[in-house]
Amino acid sequence: MSEDKAARLEAIAAEIRAHGGCGQEPCETATQLVPGEGNPDAAVVVVGEAPGAREDATGRPFVGGAGKLLDKLLAEAGFERSDVFITNVVKARPPGNRDPKKPEIEHHLPWLLAQLEVIQPQLIVPLGRHALAHFAPDAKISEVHGRPIEGAGGRRLFPWYHPAAALHNQALRETLYADARALASTLSA
Ligand code: URA
Repeated sequence: MSEDKAARLEAIAAEIRAHGGCGQEPCETATQLVPGEGNPDAAVVVVGEAPGAREDATGRPFVGGAGKLLDKLLAEAGFERSDVFITNVVKARPPGNRDPKKPEIEHHLPWLLAQLEVIQPQLIVPLGRHALAHFAPDAKISEVHGRPIEGAGGRRLFPWYHPAAALHNQALRETLYADARALASTLSA
């Protein structure tokens, strides 16, 4: 593992954890900010929208119900959770899990961009339409999920539906598993 990358990611995480006093509602009301975690040399970075209640309580990304499904999807794609890097666009839980507002997204985005700059993944997996919107504003998740597309700035994306949306939707869960297998085929091609 690259120690330099690990140290640079830890410096970003430390800055995120120490953040506060900006007046933005999620930053002020969250129990703690959730920087993300995983392999500094990851080929794949998974990006959700914002931490939920379990993430807010633990300081770790995707550890609730959606996280358990994400772990299974990663396994279907041939990964352990620790092989990839998992984070969110917004690092603080919006009150009541409401959607983050535009200024809040803009406030948090530089941290995600800094993390991606260090990791330099082969593929970014945005989860759901909100995360996708930051990387490919004109793309529709229903049209681009489960295949590689080029996002803004030439980033290589492989969008998935958000696992939370599939928790009570069997058909969507099957689509997600198929998209997980498609990710494995794309990476091995
Ligand atoms: N949903 C997200 O988008 N991110 C998390 O970390 C957990 C649930």
